[in-house]
Amino acid sequence: MKIVVTGGAGFIGSNFLNGLVPRHPEHSFINLDKLTYAANVRSLAGIAEAPNYKLVRVDLADFAAVDALFAAEKPDLVVHFAAESHVDRSIVGPRDFIDANIVGTFNLLEACRKHWPRGHGLLHHVSTDEVYGSLGDTGAFTEETRYDPSSPYSASKAASDHLVRAYHRTYGLATKVTNCSNNYGPRQFPEKLIPLMILNALEGKPLPVYGAGLNVRDWLYVDDHCEAIWTVIQKGRVGETYNIGGRSERKNIDVVHAICAILAEETNQPAAKLTGLIKYVTDRPGHDLRYAIDATRLASECGWTPRETFETGLKKTVRWYLDNPQWIEDVRSGEYRKWIDRNYGERTAHP
Ligand code: NAD
Ligand code: TYD
Repeated sequence: MKIVVTGGAGFIGSNFLNGLVPRHPEHSFINLDKLTYAANVRSLAGIAEAPNYKLVRVDLADFAAVDALFAAEKPDLVVHFAAESHVDRSIVGPRDFIDANIVGTFNLLEACRKHWPRGHGLLHHVSTDEVYGSLGDTGAFTEETRYDPSSPYSASKAASDHLVRAYHRTYGLATKVTNCSNNYGPRQFPEKLIPLMILNALEGKPLPVYGAGLNVRDWLYVDDHCEAIWTVIQKGRVGETYNIGGRSERKNIDVVHAICAILAEETNQPAAKLTGLIKYVTDRPGHDLRYAIDATRLASECGWTPRETFETGLKKTVRWYLDNPQWIEDVRSGEYRKWIDRNYGERTAHP
């Protein structure tokens, strides 16, 4: 099978490819990525030379480039990760989110519609629980929860989810959608809570906690998310939506304390030295209070449950950042950006 993975140089996409490329030599994987600031080719070093893998720089907002890639590669399966993914950035500058998440998904759907005869191909769309908006103190999102996005990021993901379902209903395109809670793990860009806290603590910099730190997120280890997506691709029903979550709801402040405790143990320093870096800062506008996922459908129809607990996953994550100083250094120095410019500077479209 030919599999196009969009956004495969980002956090979740690179973990997905690192897991699947060596395990499935019978499939070829084409990583379609614009290589934005969030992409990191060092995250793909382990598979870069694999015979069943290649990276092609394409902007999904450029339909001609997407169309050319489909014509050349004739994919059977598309796993769609590519997106602008950071809520705070979407508040400062929403336009990139409209271009990548809405126009990008639309172009991908158009390419599928054009190149796949009826009955051929599957588009798996990777989405977020943030489309459902905020919960109060109780309850959990099900697949029937009404969409109610708060940020430009979640609104753009909601729009993309609707487009995917509309293409299934209108044109009969084979699609599946998964909505997952907050991921953490190796190779996550340090703009998101967990890697930001790990890297800042390692440098003795302040740990900025928004508001009172009482917002709750459900956390899922990235490999569990990737395994869930692969399971839905194999076993899920076409046209269906599946929620993915870890049943690991934590207040932000408790997450930061847990990171400090693990780091203190791993680096032989008093935890109080690290927790002393916590700084309460101005809250995010429109900050959703709480997310929680009911993943019953996925468990009962496909038999998926997460392997990691939050405690085991967080330990592995901290260990990965401690064991990969060069990855961190590249991100800090911008070295990986220079590599992208050197190797992909002019090559923005498919050959
Ligand atoms: P990320 O920001 O780490 O990576 C996104 C990747 O998409 C990058 O490699 C980037 O270069 C690429 N990209 C962006 N715009 C593009 C475009 N126009 N054309 C082609 N490539 C483009 O994101 P992530 O955290 O890995 O998230 C991947 C997907 O999973 C997203 O769709 C996101 O909404 C969803 N998701 C993320 C989380 C999470 O906690 N990170 C949770 C649930 C769902
Ligand atoms: P984030 O990792 O940006 O994911 P999302 O906004 O998609 O849930 O943030 C997770 C939570 O952590 C969220 O409630 C905002 C909070 N947060 C902080 O308190 N400080 C920070 O520096 C960041 C980046 C996030």
